[in-house]
Amino acid sequence: MSLPVIMSLSPRGGGNSDQAADFFARCLHGESHVLRLRDHHVEPCTGCGACAADGVCRMSGEDEAEELFERLDRASGLVLTAPVYFYHLPSPAKAWIDRAQCRYMARQGGRAAGTLRPAYVVLLAGRTRGEKLFDGILPTLRYFLDALDFRLEGTALLRGIDEAGDFSASREALQAVRELAGRSGW
Ligand SMILES: Cc1cc2nc3c(=O)[nH]c(=O)nc-3n(C[C@H](O)[C@H](O)[C@H](O)COP(=O)(O)O)c2cc1C
Repeated sequence: MSLPVIMSLSPRGGGNSDQAADFFARCLHGESHVLRLRDHHVEPCTGCGACAADGVCRMSGEDEAEELFERLDRASGLVLTAPVYFYHLPSPAKAWIDRAQCRYMARQGGRAAGTLRPAYVVLLAGRTRGEKLFDGILPTLRYFLDALDFRLEGTALLRGIDEAGDFSASREALQAVRELAGRSGW
């Protein structure tokens, strides 16, 4: 059975993104798979360009980037939770996203888009202010999700969540994620 995948992209174990991922899963009526990106070995894209020829990454099999994409291929939907680092995603998350270039190139080379599945994003930022706090991350995630046949259906953009545990202690943050999970209907 195809289940939604809920994935924390934070390098910090037990931090706010992990808590948000676990809480999202608890809010659902049905089952889901919860993953942590940091539990997986992912090398950065070297820009070798080989995937331009056939849409295949030469590093697939040497690490777990492609295996993770394949898990997402089998998912009925996707939730990504991540902290803001210097107005963008943490570098391990961006490294994994860059590895989806082979999926993008396959699409350019004629691979038909699959059926679009829903995706939700929860971003957590320590700062309470800053108009553009999430502006770096959101376009990146939209294009990444598109390359993997997901459509971004909703976001929770949470500010003032800094120390590990701030998420679980914030009624507003919990409510925002509960609402997002409710919208998924999963
Ligand atoms: C390297 C680093 C960079 C950060 N950059 C920002 C930033 O640009 N804006 C912000 O609001 N918070 C920033 N933060 C704070 C984190 O977004 C915040 O602590 C978040 O709750 C961490 O989530 P986590 O526990 O899931 O890792 C940064 C934290 C670190 C460690």
